[in-house]
Amino acid sequence: MMSEGILIGFRLHTVMVLLNSIKIDPPILNSSCAWSSDLQQLTDLYESPYTGAVTTRTATLHGFIEDASHTVAFSASGHTTLNSYGYSPHPLSKYLDWVLAILSAHPTSTKPVIISITASDPATLDSMVLSIQTLREKISDGSSSRIAIELNTSCPNIPNASPSGYSFSALLPSLQVLADAHSKDLTLSIGLKLPPYVYKDQFSEAIAGIKSLSVLSDDGIVKNPVAFLTCTNTLGNSLLFSEQTMTTGDQIFAIPTTLGGLAGDPLHPLALGNVFTFKNLMSSQEAKDAGIGHIKIIGVGGVTSREAAIRMRNAGALVVGCATLFGKEGVRAFEIIGKE
Ligand SMILES: Cc1cc2nc3c(=O)[nH]c(=O)nc-3n(C[C@H](O)[C@H](O)[C@H](O)COP(=O)(O)O)c2cc1C
Repeated sequence: MMSEGILIGFRLHTVMVLLNSIKIDPPILNSSCAWSSDLQQLTDLYESPYTGAVTTRTATLHGFIEDASHTVAFSASGHTTLNSYGYSPHPLSKYLDWVLAILSAHPTSTKPVIISITASDPATLDSMVLSIQTLREKISDGSSSRIAIELNTSCPNIPNASPSGYSFSALLPSLQVLADAHSKDLTLSIGLKLPPYVYKDQFSEAIAGIKSLSVLSDDGIVKNPVAFLTCTNTLGNSLLFSEQTMTTGDQIFAIPTTLGGLAGDPLHPLALGNVFTFKNLMSSQEAKDAGIGHIKIIGVGGVTSREAAIRMRNAGALVVGCATLFGKEGVRAFEIIGKE
């Protein structure tokens, strides 16, 4: 239905989206990635008129040791990446300094920064959330907020640590940390970055886990602390040969670890399917009764053109994001997918 696509394409640029207390306008952003890693990159993203929000690279409390095995390869044709990155080498404290610097330099802007974080245990996550909340207090961030949290549950490249989003029951103590922080401060906007799921039970398990955080509020309504799901992260255990990429040298495989996270065009159908499935699951009356009907989806995965962004919207995402196109084109990527 081409006419519907064009109509929704128009809305892609004009409709602003509220995720709890942050406003994303236009509803286009970068997803967390290696190119949203430092102050300059984050500033460039923030100052682009085509981004409605900026997502930081995933931070841990102390930073992640990065070496030459952590890298990304781009396909020779089309828009595909395979990466072996873990988390950001910069600790969360750096991101808090940088976010403060960016927001202070743009005092009249309402554009939010989504701080992507992860931790291997709930106590560490708790201390990270606390320091983000301290920053929010410092800038008097409240019901019209400029800082949100995205919990990354889905990096496929961490040795001996499977993406927690594939095991929701084990993730629950960490989700409870976020829920507790939200119950103390309802203006805290929380999102979950999920891995690509490939069969029905994975979606059901994720929905059941999120539902378990719902509480009956004072006004008698069942509410859930999660404001958004970002679908999806890269598809792990993927392989490209050097001959398929722009990688130079005589190595056989595109990246030193051989296997890595696949993104860009080949991920697009799976990402669309994940967005579509979550959207359907959260639109049911049962989901609404369980307090999760309000959760919005940021569609990520193979958004490498304006048409792909429109497909994401048509599949059920209210906001669209990209990493691979951004890595290839720089901030021009957001003009490519967002321009009328
Ligand atoms: C080089 C690179 C680094 C990434 N680093 C992160 C990260 O730190 N945290 C995260 O949640 N996702 C990370 N991602 C995943 C992206 O946010 C995105 O989910 C994925 O690449 C699919 O989107 P795309 O097809 O537009 O690239 C990374 C992706 C790439 C290509």
